[in-house]
Amino acid sequence: MAKITASVYTSHVPAIGAAIDLGKTQEPYWQPLFAGYEPSKQWMKDNKPDVIFLVFNDHATAFSLDMIPTFAIGTAAEYQPADEGWGPRPVPKVIGHPELAAHIAQSVIQQDFDLTIVNKMDVDHGLTVPLSLMCGQPEAWPCPVIPFAVNVVQYPVPSGRRCFELGKAIRKAIESFDQPLKVQIWGTGGMSHQLQGARAGLINKDFDNQFLDRLIADPAAQADQPHIDYVREAGSEGIELVMWLIARGAMSDVAGGPAPTLKHRFYHVPASNTAVGHLILENN
Ligand code: DHB
Ligand code: FE
Repeated sequence: MAKITASVYTSHVPAIGAAIDLGKTQEPYWQPLFAGYEPSKQWMKDNKPDVIFLVFNDHATAFSLDMIPTFAIGTAAEYQPADEGWGPRPVPKVIGHPELAAHIAQSVIQQDFDLTIVNKMDVDHGLTVPLSLMCGQPEAWPCPVIPFAVNVVQYPVPSGRRCFELGKAIRKAIESFDQPLKVQIWGTGGMSHQLQGARAGLINKDFDNQFLDRLIADPAAQADQPHIDYVREAGSEGIELVMWLIARGAMSDVAGGPAPTLKHRFYHVPASNTAVGHLILENN
C-alpha cells in the first residue's frame, strides 16, 4: 500500500527561479529567503519520497483562456520545463508516474471529483520553483512527480472547502494503490500578493500568519473561509493559497489519525511582489 508520509507547503515566484538559475542566491536581497529553505533541502535528503504529488497552478502557460480545467491531473511519463518568455528554465525535466497517476484519476473521479486528464503539458514556475526550493540544483529531480494543476487564475475558482475535500479523496486514492510507495503531497502558491491594479504590491502578514496557524492546527476551519476573503485580505493572487488545503486535506489526522508533526515553518517578505510562506508537516 502506498502512503502519504508528509506534506510540504511553499510559495512560488518566478524571480526565485531566476535568482537560482542566475547564481544570485547569496546576494543580500535573496540570502534571507534561501536561508529559510536550507533546513528543507536537508529534510528532503533525509526523507526522500518515492513520488511527489505536486499541487500547483498553471499561469496561462500549458492552458490559456481557450481552455481552463478546474482540476487537472498529469498522467504523462514526463514533462518539460515551460518557456515563460525567457526560454525554459535550465532545470531537469520532470519524470511522471503514469501508473500511480492513472490510479489516482480512477479513484478520485469515482469519488465524484471531476478531474481533467492531461497526457501532455509543459510545467511552469508554479511547479519548477517549489522543486528548486526544496531540492536545489540536482542533475535530476530526486523522484517522479505527479503534477496536479488547479485553476486559481480565471474566475470562478474552486472553494477552499472543495479543495480540502478533494485532498481527502486523494489520500484515499493513494492509500489504495497496491505498491509500497512513500508519497509526499505538496501544496504550493501564495501567500499574500497582488500583481495588478490599484492594490498591486499588497502584502498582509497578519492574514498569512493566521492562515499558517490554522492550516497547521485547524485546517477544517480554514477550509470554511470563503474565496472572497482571500482576495480581499491576501490580494488577487493570494487565492493561490486554496491549493494548500488540498495537501492538508490529504494528511492522516483529517481522517482521524494522529496530528502531524511540524518540522519547519518559515515566512519571509518580500520575494518580488510576494510574501513567501513555507511549512513541512510529517504524518505520524
Ligand atoms: C509573482 C508571484 C507569482 O505567484 C506569480 O505567479 C508571478 C509573479 C511575483 O511576485 O512577481
Ligand atoms: Fe503564481
